[in-house]
Amino acid sequence: MSSLREFEERARERLGRVHYDYFAGGAGDEVTLRANESAFGRLALVPRVLRGAAKVRLDVTLLGCRASMPVLVAPTAFHRLADPEGERATARAAAAAETIMIVSMASTVAVEEVAAAAPEAVLWFQLYVQPDLAFTERVVRRAEDAGCRALVVTVDSPARGRREREVRHGFDDLPEGLCCENLRDEDGGVRPIVMSPGVSWEHLDLIREFTALPIVLKGVLHPEDARLAVERGVAALIVSNHGGRQLDAVPATADLLPEIVAAVGGAVPVLLDGGVRRGTDVLKALALGAGAVAIGRPVIWGLAADGERGAGRVLETLRAETEHALVLCGCASPDDLGPDMVRRTGAADVVGPAW
Ligand code: FNR
Ligand code: LAC
Repeated sequence: MSSLREFEERARERLGRVHYDYFAGGAGDEVTLRANESAFGRLALVPRVLRGAAKVRLDVTLLGCRASMPVLVAPTAFHRLADPEGERATARAAAAAETIMIVSMASTVAVEEVAAAAPEAVLWFQLYVQPDLAFTERVVRRAEDAGCRALVVTVDSPARGRREREVRHGFDDLPEGLCCENLRDEDGGVRPIVMSPGVSWEHLDLIREFTALPIVLKGVLHPEDARLAVERGVAALIVSNHGGRQLDAVPATADLLPEIVAAVGGAVPVLLDGGVRRGTDVLKALALGAGAVAIGRPVIWGLAADGERGAGRVLETLRAETEHALVLCGCASPDDLGPDMVRRTGAADVVGPAW
């Protein structure tokens, strides 16, 4: 398979309709879901020439963690729906690619087992702040003890998005035998994840009291919130609309990125996820000021298509495309990219070749 889109085709065949739709779907009319990809299609790259960039480097360092390329694994739930090894397989693929995996709080393998399955992996842990703060603290402690190196607090989910594909299929629970292992309580029972509108900036301060891990906020879209986050001492931001799965009708992340980058003013790294499917998308995001991007669904498509190997091939495909695009742009590293190399065009949505 030569592109990420082909992995999606294979995954669709293998997953079955209900689970494919869980992974693929977005909220409401899926306007934001489509916008994430098409926004990249409306951005064009203007390469530089004759810069003698004979050797290309892709590696980046984020919060003291090295990644061999500026492409991270975004936190996504329920990997065991895609492959029996689930998040273990994903972590091994991320470790082999030498990139950072953000383990979802809603993983179907416990964070300790994910870490044990891939001792070389650099893991960050994604958290939904639970109204029971003592329970939240226990979950964070588990992630710390498992060796996770940052806490990614997802803030775009004061309620769960309404994804109509799930409603139509009646998909509201995991099959027998699977559960969110990080939500296991001391008595062995598994709590449901609560997405609470009561979560506020004060909760972040409380979390900081019980963990020394750097805190990354995921799901910041308003520049004023980006400024507040920096003021509150967050270590990084992820511009994300949850892959179009939360509030429908929010802008594409690629369109919001420049405002957030301007608001943050270089104080902390700004990452982006949503709709990254090509190496050229990676370059566009980096040129507009992202420190790195993360991919959600493509990793799941790789996993569903061919387990650990498939997830690894997705990462390697995107690496090869990113490197190739950098060469064609006359750049020796992501640092050579800048906003002067991006143009906004009125071109029609470009989502894959028309074969
Ligand atoms: C997600 N995402 C997500 N985010 C998060 O913080 N915690 C989670 O548990 C999940 N779960 C999840 C499941 C599935 C099936 C998807 C598709 C997404 C959002 C994810 O981290 C990321 O923001 C998007 O997936 C990025 O968009 P793309 O790359 O899928 O277009
Ligand atoms: C999702 C949740 C688990 O997007 O974040 O499905």
